[in-house]
Amino acid sequence: MLNLHHILNYKKTNMSKSAILSSSIAKKFWMALTGLFLCLFLIGHLIGNLQLIMYTGAEGKSVFNEYAYFMTHNPAVKILSYLTYFSILFHAIDGFLLAYQNSKARKKKYAYSKPNENSTWASRHMALLGSLILIFIVTHMVNFWAAMHYDETLPLHTVSVADPNTGEEQKLYVTRTGDYMPVSAFEAGPNGEKAQMEIRNKTEFYNSAVNIPVGGGYKDLHSLTMAFFGHDKSEIGRPANPYALYATILYVLAMIVLAFHLWQGFASAFQSLGIRIKKYRTLIEGSGKIFAIVVPAAFAIIPIVIYLTK
Ligand code: HEM
Repeated sequence: MLNLHHILNYKKTNMSKSAILSSSIAKKFWMALTGLFLCLFLIGHLIGNLQLIMYTGAEGKSVFNEYAYFMTHNPAVKILSYLTYFSILFHAIDGFLLAYQNSKARKKKYAYSKPNENSTWASRHMALLGSLILIFIVTHMVNFWAAMHYDETLPLHTVSVADPNTGEEQKLYVTRTGDYMPVSAFEAGPNGEKAQMEIRNKTEFYNSAVNIPVGGGYKDLHSLTMAFFGHDKSEIGRPANPYALYATILYVLAMIVLAFHLWQGFASAFQSLGIRIKKYRTLIEGSGKIFAIVVPAAFAIIPIVIYLTK
């Protein structure tokens, strides 16, 4: 016979089960949404980075540094950047929580089921793949993003031209209005005379005597990236990375990990969002697989090409 104690216990168990279920559905929903947003970020980031190998020489340097300036100063892009940082953090934390919750639930279930036969390797190791990608993103951001935003020693974009009269090489800063400014104007005179010009806030040019801004330059992110993957840029204080070969190999390995993560993640994101229209199932799964191969492969080609053309 049922008594009050049984009824209360029954309600409690059912409620906690449904609470767990709904919280795991909510987690999956947000994982999917942030994951798909990060896929959009990957497309944008890939198109931007492909410029590194599509253009060469002085043109390549200008195109990429102007692009990097736009990406770090345009207000709309800035908002998208903050959304990207938030999505990476949210996706990672939510993913860890979901994996922990699943592993607890699975401990009982796996005594009876055969996971190897019922799911793919990638689907069972999404948390491991995701953790490796997170390690990649953190080290990648330390090497590039942190250098772009906080490295006081990151040089500004310069060009070298030969003086038509003396034939002597002269270094000029490229300004954001398309003009040039001699680097020598920013150097103190031989007898300790104060430099005519100075750089403030990393990129802004000031006339020191009258204390007024006279334009600004571009950070040379192009040379930083080229030096990281093996090009000798010592003329701007960035000698070739002695570990460029290992950096290139690690980038390629990271892209293989990303490919596995996307292979499983792309289509399951649509499922978690509740988009299960039968007609589009093959289309979604197919484009997920194409995305998972093409995007990481195109990313991997960039450091390989830079390294091989050093
Ligand atoms: C393999 C080729 C890649 C190259 C050459 C590359 C290069 C760069 C560079 C130069 C920056 C600094 C740009 C800036 O701060 O404005 C950057 C930022 C960043 N990269 Fe990459 N990247 C590559 C692949 C990836 C991949 C595969 C991911 C993600 C899985 C990624 C995630 C990021 C993130 C999150 C930022 C910060 C973006 C922001 O501030 O909005 N990158 N990357």
